Amino acid sequence: MPARSTALAGLARRQAARQLPAAIRPAFTTAATARPSSSSLSRAAPLRAFSSTPRRAGGNVPARADYKKLTAADVEAFKSFLSTPASSLFTTIASPDGSWTPVNEDDLIGYNKDWMDKYVGHSQLLLKPKSTEEVSKIMAYCYKERIAVVPQGGNTGLVGGGTPVYDEVILSTEAMKEVRHFDEVSGILTADGGAILESLSNYLHPKGYMMPLDLGAKGSCHIAGNISTNAGGLRLLRYGSLHGTVLGIEAVLPDEKGTILSVGMPGGRGGALRKDNTGYDLKQLFIGAEGTLGIVTGVSIMTPRLSSAVNVAVLSVPDFKGVQKVFQETRGHLGEILSAFEFWDQEGLELVLHHTGQKTPFEGEPEGGRAFYVLIETSGSNNDHDSEKLGSLLEHLLESEVIADGVLAQDETQVASLWSLRESMPEAAGKLGKVYKYDLSMPVKDMYSLVEEARVRFEEHGLIKDGSIKSVVGYGHIGDGNLHINIVADRWDEKIEKTIEPWIYEATAARSGSISAEHGLGVMKAPYVGYSKSDESIDVMQAIRKLFDPRGILSPYKYLPPVKEPQAAN
Ligand code: FAD
Ligand code: MLT
Ligand code: ZN
Repeated sequence: MPARSTALAGLARRQAARQLPAAIRPAFTTAATARPSSSSLSRAAPLRAFSSTPRRAGGNVPARADYKKLTAADVEAFKSFLSTPASSLFTTIASPDGSWTPVNEDDLIGYNKDWMDKYVGHSQLLLKPKSTEEVSKIMAYCYKERIAVVPQGGNTGLVGGGTPVYDEVILSTEAMKEVRHFDEVSGILTADGGAILESLSNYLHPKGYMMPLDLGAKGSCHIAGNISTNAGGLRLLRYGSLHGTVLGIEAVLPDEKGTILSVGMPGGRGGALRKDNTGYDLKQLFIGAEGTLGIVTGVSIMTPRLSSAVNVAVLSVPDFKGVQKVFQETRGHLGEILSAFEFWDQEGLELVLHHTGQKTPFEGEPEGGRAFYVLIETSGSNNDHDSEKLGSLLEHLLESEVIADGVLAQDETQVASLWSLRESMPEAAGKLGKVYKYDLSMPVKDMYSLVEEARVRFEEHGLIKDGSIKSVVGYGHIGDGNLHINIVADRWDEKIEKTIEPWIYEATAARSGSISAEHGLGVMKAPYVGYSKSDESIDVMQAIRKLFDPRGILSPYKYLPPVKEPQAAN
């Protein structure tokens, strides 16, 4: 980041009225791509060796069910379904006749273990099919043999959904990543499920379009992974959820034929239409299904026009009431040009500065101190208009003393730097220790009291004093009512986890919230769905799952609690 004094316009509260017009200079960026990508998350090589020993946190996982244990004959069968087995099949199982070369356990660890280093499975087989037809043959075989499978995209999920629990076959979409079609008139993009989110953004930008979702893991996550988790991210506030933007899905079902189900895709009946009111909207079921209903192999999605004017400001706010006030005022002032509204707390900022080496963009300590930060982004097509609106908002906030001070990006580099303060949060927390992550949805007014309650609770349990818990950070997508609490500890430990869960879910339910806003359920929250869904809803979800996956081979042990056995009649 360039020197602060020249790079960012500081807005001194006491001199606001005099200085503001000069201080808030318009920022102009021509592309929303200015922000850094988290490409560092990418698995650079197809097989990456991790050196740490596999371990697992938490004790909520059901025992291994009686799925078939893989044999060399199964590997032989899988091999016959693949056009390029040498680059699509990796197994630790020895070949009786040398027809494949087995890999070491370490070679599979990057797929067996999740991004947080929390969930670790022991799969012996990784498949990377190259086409939907190959996926279909694999699933038909797994159905016949009752072999358990876990679909995996970029493996950036945060609830242990994409990694095996035991020895499930890992079916990765890594080798299915092409753009299939783009309609420059409608903005409808159709791509393979394994296309990386950032690659799709890069494909669209020269054409004047952008992806309707954006998240810190964009350099690694796959579009099918996004759909399967119903990922929210940083722009949901503006472009809405995937339930609105996804127009079509192609998925392979875990049934006898490995049925290829194509709903709303180009080339099919009624393909990729904005409006289609003919029956149940089946594609919606796959959005957020977390790999329990089928393997998503293709996607059609509505993409918005790229904004030619992007402005970003970060403001410091002395208290959480102020954060809510800023949000209210921001919506009122900015209306349709508001594209993101994020927040984080002081502990979060310090974590990021410490672990990323970034410098604070603020100068000095304002009166009243700093406790919270909000990032406001506008995206529009007329920079003069947008800058004027943002400038008048900032002036108003300073004059009414709702904010302590703020900085406004002057160019693309500064846009990237300011975003990085927020986007680096997950990575910075991971550098400090083991992160117990909670992704909660609730009324904004009730959000931060939960973070404070958590700190008091850990204090009372002696976990802060003994160094077990190093930091409790609150941040999130305030514009969507989505709070992230990261509890950074020195180890994965059942005692720590039991101090947090189910207390945190109870506290969320007491605030009429949801225990998962955007990360999903995975293995982590499967036992706790009842805090957010009624028994009747869970029964219906279980029935839907059974309809799609009658032999229960997809993503077992996850997503929902085990099906209740009917009580015997007296
Ligand atoms: P994976 O992790 O591989 O899998 C996730 C789930 O989807 C698993 O249950 C898996 O079985 C299933 N799945 C994957 N591919 C398929 C398929 N083809 N068919 C069927 N099921 C499939 N999430 C947010 O919502 N918002 C954020 O802002 C956000 N920011 C993040 C920032 C960082 C730094 C990191 C590490 C993660 C972040 N996440 C965020 C979480 C994660 O990136 C998302 O959940 C993402 O959508 C997962 O995509 P993936 O391809 O990595 O899926
Ligand atoms: C985020 O908003 O940064 C993501 O959801 C990831 C996380 O919370 O770790
Ligand atoms: Zn998030």
